[in-house]
Amino acid sequence: MQLPFAESWKIKMVEPIRKSTREEREKWLAEAHNNVFMLKSEQVYIDLLTDSGTGSMSDRQWAAMMLGDESYAGARSFFHFQETVQRLTGFKYVIPTHQGRAAENVLFSHLVKAGNVVPGNAHFDTTKGHIEFRKATAIDVTVDEAKDTQLEIPFKGNVSLEKLEKVLKENQGNVPFMVLTVTNNTVGGQPVSMQNIRETCELCHKYGVPVNMDSARFAENAYFIKTREKGYENKTIKEIAREMFSYVDSMTMSAKKDGLVNMGGFIATNKEEWYEGAKAFCIPFEGFLTYGGMNGRDLEALAVGLDENTEFDMLDTRIQQVQYLAKKLDEYGIPYQRPAGGHAIFVDADRVLDQIPKEEFPAQTLTCELYLEAGIRACEIGYLLADRDPVTRENRFGGNDFVRLCIPRRVYTNNHMDVIAAALKNVYDRRHEVKRGVRITWEAELMRHFTVQLERL
Ligand code: F0G
Repeated sequence: MQLPFAESWKIKMVEPIRKSTREEREKWLAEAHNNVFMLKSEQVYIDLLTDSGTGSMSDRQWAAMMLGDESYAGARSFFHFQETVQRLTGFKYVIPTHQGRAAENVLFSHLVKAGNVVPGNAHFDTTKGHIEFRKATAIDVTVDEAKDTQLEIPFKGNVSLEKLEKVLKENQGNVPFMVLTVTNNTVGGQPVSMQNIRETCELCHKYGVPVNMDSARFAENAYFIKTREKGYENKTIKEIAREMFSYVDSMTMSAKKDGLVNMGGFIATNKEEWYEGAKAFCIPFEGFLTYGGMNGRDLEALAVGLDENTEFDMLDTRIQQVQYLAKKLDEYGIPYQRPAGGHAIFVDADRVLDQIPKEEFPAQTLTCELYLEAGIRACEIGYLLADRDPVTRENRFGGNDFVRLCIPRRVYTNNHMDVIAAALKNVYDRRHEVKRGVRITWEAELMRHFTVQLERL
């Protein structure tokens, strides 16, 4: 008999979690203004808000923390971290920052000017925020297929070369760089193929435009290339990652995802001019160049995490868990962005709550229902997160309206996946009893979904 699949780790430390009653959750959600970001984590049973900084570190990472050198300048831990990034990415210049958006802030402060245009395959919201904050425009050039949630194609995060070329042609001399996000979080944790990475970079370079890779989940993207793209099945994750980075000019990294740490980030590049420019912003915003907002011990843990998470078994365990949850949802007929993404399942709320108009935010409504059902905290990646158009101030209803069930790395077991699927099925079975959605009572001008206040209609 063939042995079944199992995790490539065993558990050495546990953290208790607690169930609550529906009455408690009704009260807590009302106090949180129907925004799950405002809940206390103790009011949550299974937390699927994000995979960002929520993973478990390994024994080797904890051991490495004891070796942290906390010197202000020239710390040994920085050089260990730098050597690891250089070896895994092929980039010479490395600037640590405290997280991904800080890397964006430092690099974009040097590169983005008012009036610029920055194309990308669905910029993450902080990325878009850092572009729009500088009075520049972020233009999405993801393939149209990404919008059709039921279409099953292997690389749904890809860049549309036609859309990209149109932007490059129409804005010559005004595009400081292009952002290539791997995996493409916003459209469902969908990967970008190596062929598309190569062709995107060739096209940008033809127009003299450099490419910055938003690399938060680069290792998961490499896993999908290995398992889905012809010619890569026998390459290691590390070899594939090196090739991905070889085509681009720089990377910004949220190490809270594929770096397996709770906090951290960095910029890496071979462009000396960008390094020199970014350095000048790192010091006032993040700190001196050999710590950039991170502790020495955190740099040590990150160096180990990057090495661990570019091994096949680690990624196989993680992505198979996401696919396990997807199979359960298939059994129950619950629609989500197909195929399952690397870090999450994106439930297609527009299809689940098809009686709720866009103006009443179906995905946010479903997020609330799932929390009330079982204390499971998911995250809206939809019309709320899309913010308003900076010029017209209209809601942006053009994209998908998803509820993201985001799986932290090495945290939950497949029993938890069963609970999540069952809770969602219960909500799905009574979906037509949900007559109305939610209305915004207060919102911030930018990145509103973190702090928005809502009332249930
Ligand atoms: N880029 C991508 C693709 C991301 O998903 C994120 C964060 C960032 C950049 C910013 O990094 O959080 O370290 O500042 N995504 C988290 C999420 C928050 O839940 O998807 P950060």
